[in-house]
Amino acid sequence: MRSKLFHGNSNSSLGGGDSRESHGKRTHRATDSVLADELLAYLEATPERTTAERLLITSGGMQGLDLAAKLFVDPGDLVIVEAPTYTNGSATLLAYGADILEAPIDDQGLIVEALPDLVHQAGRVPKAIYVIPNFQNPTGTAMSLERRHLLLDLARKWGTIIIDDDPYGMLRFGGDHIPGFRELGGGDSLVFSVRTFSKILAPGLRVGWVDADPAIVAKLIDAKQTMDTCTNVPNQLLAAEFLRRGGLEPHLRRLRSEYQRRMMAMQTSLERHFSEQAAWTNPQGGFFLWLTFGEHVDTSKLFDLGVPNGVAFIPGRAFSVTGRFGNALRLCFASQTPERTELGISRLADTLRSL
Ligand SMILES: Cc1ncc(COP(=O)(O)O)c(C=O)c1O
Repeated sequence: MRSKLFHGNSNSSLGGGDSRESHGKRTHRATDSVLADELLAYLEATPERTTAERLLITSGGMQGLDLAAKLFVDPGDLVIVEAPTYTNGSATLLAYGADILEAPIDDQGLIVEALPDLVHQAGRVPKAIYVIPNFQNPTGTAMSLERRHLLLDLARKWGTIIIDDDPYGMLRFGGDHIPGFRELGGGDSLVFSVRTFSKILAPGLRVGWVDADPAIVAKLIDAKQTMDTCTNVPNQLLAAEFLRRGGLEPHLRRLRSEYQRRMMAMQTSLERHFSEQAAWTNPQGGFFLWLTFGEHVDTSKLFDLGVPNGVAFIPGRAFSVTGRFGNALRLCFASQTPERTELGISRLADTLRSL
């Protein structure tokens, strides 16, 4: 462990965000980061395999999203997002002044076929499209292969950046792998891939990575300097050591089978308590599923009553910049045992009755 963690000639092996002198030669810092090396070796055997010049270690997935917005979004730029989408993703885009256009999704993910009409109505092409292709937050759905191809085609036609945010792709517990934008794009500079250890190792580490065109990575390094200089080094070393010891693959196998068990338990509880009142998604991976009630149910009110009743969830409106999905909510199946899930869902059903 010592020799691996403390190899190299100086702290040049520890960083993740700039260029520096080493042995008299200017080197790309990401390539001499301990974590970047371990990550490259790990990814080599996966569909996410990449190269050192394309990789930048970040302070979690959020920093990857922030960097994407910082680099590509100017005030007033049109950015398409899925509706519903990850709250902090759209919040980041808004913070950089994006003009957000919500596009519908169904059980095959973003309805890419609808984009040309939406763009026509908007009167301009989008600067970026923000997508969560696998087990989307909040719905748990995955985008079909056909739509991934179509989205790449449209992005190339419009010169639009695809912000490919995929924290959950390694947590597939059912169905077949669907190649990601990173794979399908063949290194296309329009594909900006944001990844994180948060969902596969520990969110508190605040360690993730970006995979992007090397010319873009060079700019990211500068942009990251003004944010945090470099990603927390002890935490990078923890993640690196975990990878070096071969810990990630067995850990992922355990997570997948446990999350599948928990997801199925939630389906059973929902069937038991909500078969008449709601419809919900059936994810093949990730953390979340999405429950939709009739139009008359306001899940923000349900939340206010639910918390004192000992059950919490995220109301649907949180996932839309225009406040849609007031009759839906997000449930997390990954965090609770089947017993606690049954308790929570039965409390939710009681709360709904009182509403
Ligand atoms: C879709 C999506 N992107 C990004 C993130 C942020 O990841 P991190 O905690 O690594 O910043 C999350 C976390 O919930 C997420 O669900």
